[in-house]
Amino acid sequence: MLESIIKHILVTEEEAQDICRRLGKEISRDYADKNLVLVCVLKGSVMFAVDLAKQIDAVCEMEFVRTYSYGNGTESTGKVQMLIDFDRPDIAECDFLVIEDIVDSGNTLKFLVEHILAKGAKSVRTCTLLDKPSRRKVDFNPDYVGKEIPDEFVFGYGLDLFEKYRDLPYVAVVSPEYLATLGL
Ligand code: PRP
Repeated sequence: MLESIIKHILVTEEEAQDICRRLGKEISRDYADKNLVLVCVLKGSVMFAVDLAKQIDAVCEMEFVRTYSYGNGTESTGKVQMLIDFDRPDIAECDFLVIEDIVDSGNTLKFLVEHILAKGAKSVRTCTLLDKPSRRKVDFNPDYVGKEIPDEFVFGYGLDLFEKYRDLPYVAVVSPEYLATLGL
């Protein structure tokens, strides 16, 4: 069943771990003397955030947020809502790094950066496993990028296909045959 849904593997398990090691080194260096707080954006970034955190040597804390903007479709509505937010008394001393699985329209990360800055954060930067620059609808670029990818429907390693397959250790491209069955 899964074989018929996959066109090809876009990011193998090994490449995902290589990306985490590479970005982990950069982040460890950049945040060595800062108060790093990783912000995991549920649900999609959970696998990447956990694997990346393991590769960061700098002392860090973790927060979790959840946003909503897609409704039932595959196009962002452009309106991002906070479903789960965080709060802490020391926000003004914290250097936040928001961790995403994918940047598409850019709406979610742009909103989150502004949202966390509005709380009074000392600094906010962003890190994504995957970036689809060709899909951008707002002026936004992540600070750390694992891999730029073309405009294809991807799933696995946190990214879902109708809420399933987030548990796969790799990122795959959905086959055109399967997309056709969905009318996409
Ligand atoms: C996905 C992804 C990002 C967002 C990126 O989340 O995890 O948060 O969309 O798209 P954008 O750049 O167009 O805003 P989704 O809303 O599908 O929720 P999920 O993480 O729970 O799957």
